[in-house]
Amino acid sequence: MKPLIELKNVKKIYRMGNIDVKALNGVNLKINRNELISIIGPSGSGKSTLLDVMCCLNRPTEGKVFIEGRDTSKMNDDELAYIRGRKIGFVFQTFNLIQRLTALENVMLPMWFVGKPEKERRRRAMKVLNEVGLKNRANHKPSEMSGGERQRVAIARALVNDPPIIVGDEPTGNLDSKSGMEILKIFEKLHKQGRTVIIVTHDIKIANKTKRKIHIRDGKIEKEVIK
Ligand SMILES: Nc1ncnc2c1ncn2[C@@H]1O[C@H](COP(=O)(O)OP(=O)(O)OP(=O)(O)O)[C@@H](O)[C@H]1O
Ligand SMILES: [Mg+2]
Repeated sequence: MKPLIELKNVKKIYRMGNIDVKALNGVNLKINRNELISIIGPSGSGKSTLLDVMCCLNRPTEGKVFIEGRDTSKMNDDELAYIRGRKIGFVFQTFNLIQRLTALENVMLPMWFVGKPEKERRRRAMKVLNEVGLKNRANHKPSEMSGGERQRVAIARALVNDPPIIVGDEPTGNLDSKSGMEILKIFEKLHKQGRTVIIVTHDIKIANKTKRKIHIRDGKIEKEVIK
């Protein structure tokens, strides 16, 4: 079977005035279905850039990204939007919830974009909120929840269209270590359910829980460790 995600000699260069910032400098990587992977490395090493490029949030300057064997450079905006909307669920360090919406409404939102009817959106959003242990916080706004709870809402939102891939960019970065470990447990559960889970982290304790660790330095894969 073809890898789920494959990067071939990917480079990302940001041009700042007349200085080139080489955020990714020749990355080759294959990710298979149902892997649990961490990407770890110092600040500025290119982790977020790598995640964005592999998830089609950003295009590489050079090299190619394949999703299920398909060359993403040949996809049009609709096809890329389909991948971002249906294949991948995103979780960010700062949760990125909409402050004036309740937990339930935040989780319902991605289904609105794919045209699900209101009743179905409500039912499904409650189901995923329940899966992350937040049934009794459905009507709370983000400001009325703890950091760990907010991140669980963000995970519920990422899950609601049932994507096969879940990615987190420093999903535990703003949490204390106990809440961080709870979030990691949810990611582990999603992996056990058959999803592919990719977590960018600074935290070696989080990274050590994953089977495959990819170390990034200066825009390159420095080494990989497989348990
Ligand atoms: N939009 C941008 N324009 C210009 N330079 C950028 C841009 N985004 C990132 N960079 C630069 O690219 C390099 C890699 O950035 P990236 O955000 O991928 O690092 P990171 O490993 O995620 O760091 P952190 O751990 O601090 O989040 C850095 O030197 C950064 O300054
Ligand atoms: Mg980053």
